[in-house]
Amino acid sequence: MASKKYDLVIINGRVIDPDLGFGKDAHLYIKDGKIAKIEIPSAKTEKELKSFDENQIIDASGKIVVPGLIDVHVHLREPGREDAETIASGCQAAAAGGFTSVCCMPNTTPRIDNQETVKFVQDRAKVADARVYVVGAITKNIEGKELSEIGDLVKMGCVAITDDGHYVQNPEIMRRALEYANMFNIPIMQHAEDKFLCGGGVMNESYESTRLGLKGAPAAAEEIAVQRDIALTRLVGGRLHVQHVSCKEAVDAIRDAKAEGIDITAEATPHHLILTDEEIGKEFNTNLRVNPPLRTQADKEAVIAGLVDGTIDCIASDHAPHSIESKDSEFDQAPPGMVGLETTVGLIKTFIIDKGYMSWADVIRKMTSNPAKILGLPGGTLAEGSDADITIIDPDKRWTVRADKFQSKSTNSPFIGMKLKGQVYKTILGGRVVFER
Ligand code: DOR
Repeated sequence: MASKKYDLVIINGRVIDPDLGFGKDAHLYIKDGKIAKIEIPSAKTEKELKSFDENQIIDASGKIVVPGLIDVHVHLREPGREDAETIASGCQAAAAGGFTSVCCMPNTTPRIDNQETVKFVQDRAKVADARVYVVGAITKNIEGKELSEIGDLVKMGCVAITDDGHYVQNPEIMRRALEYANMFNIPIMQHAEDKFLCGGGVMNESYESTRLGLKGAPAAAEEIAVQRDIALTRLVGGRLHVQHVSCKEAVDAIRDAKAEGIDITAEATPHHLILTDEEIGKEFNTNLRVNPPLRTQADKEAVIAGLVDGTIDCIASDHAPHSIESKDSEFDQAPPGMVGLETTVGLIKTFIIDKGYMSWADVIRKMTSNPAKILGLPGGTLAEGSDADITIIDPDKRWTVRADKFQSKSTNSPFIGMKLKGQVYKTILGGRVVFER
């Protein structure tokens, strides 16, 4: 006899919801795609569990149960590069990585700079294994010359705007973008790298780039870009979100701007938290080519410190699929980007939590409630009545990253072969199990 009162119950998991201040072993009940209640096990709950069918119970003993993870920086590549990823495959990768919501970037072909393309993505996403929130382009065709119809994009449901992959180089255009975005109460997500100063660099400008004979892009290109945008936000207001922070000077600038009261938030990627430019010379693995580039040990430590002290609000994967053919080239010819959805949880557990920098609760906040707040998204909570978007993580599971296990259509990860601890066990979207191991 099946329980009629509830559809599903997740039992005995350690439930962590940073905002509810929970952190105990509990049962979590789901009904009609919503979270019905959370209860500490007792004689009463044990009696109630007897009314459940076996297939209505998920045993999460020894696991942690958290709000469905939210990734604010994902490239789904559709339309245009369906050989590298589609909305369907990208969302399967999201589910496998524990993400129930992703924000997709507009640097597709065509660009997501108009209502029709937003609608195309939204329609495709209706049947996908994750919720997809569209981020529209700041400028038409991401050319940095003319603003997109920002009001139209917001009307269609865009949650933010960005020219990701490109910095809005013209300060007058960025000023107007901030003013419009402010009017529509959405943040601007900025890829902060001054194009001219980068000058076609393919890795960080440092001792390593000199040693390897590769053209470098200095960290100052990021620092200058962030400082200019802080000045513009100070001038006209608006909400500035700095994407994939990679250097110490950018972290310091964001910390100071926050202290000053500027409405600024930031994200860090697992690769900038874990890798440095010293990796590149080992094998010239083109999967290490990424924008902004991997920087020095001191930069990496500064990004971690910024994450720990709250300067950096969230962890985002910058999942950037590229085909094997395009990455099978000289280091400086390869397109920048690496996939990240399916490795983020394991990497953060292994290199941030297990190294003692942060607790699970702090990490989960940066992957759930913080990103939800920055972009005004539903989710990021296990509060009763909210959508039953839930991720169950096995914190002790040891595993090796394998390309043939990826749900993504692309495998451009420099972490393949790495041994990690901590793995997603099940992902539940609106009460439906969309991924299980
Ligand atoms: O490395 C990157 N790849 N950085 C970006 O900002 C864009 C991304 C891509 O689209 O491949």
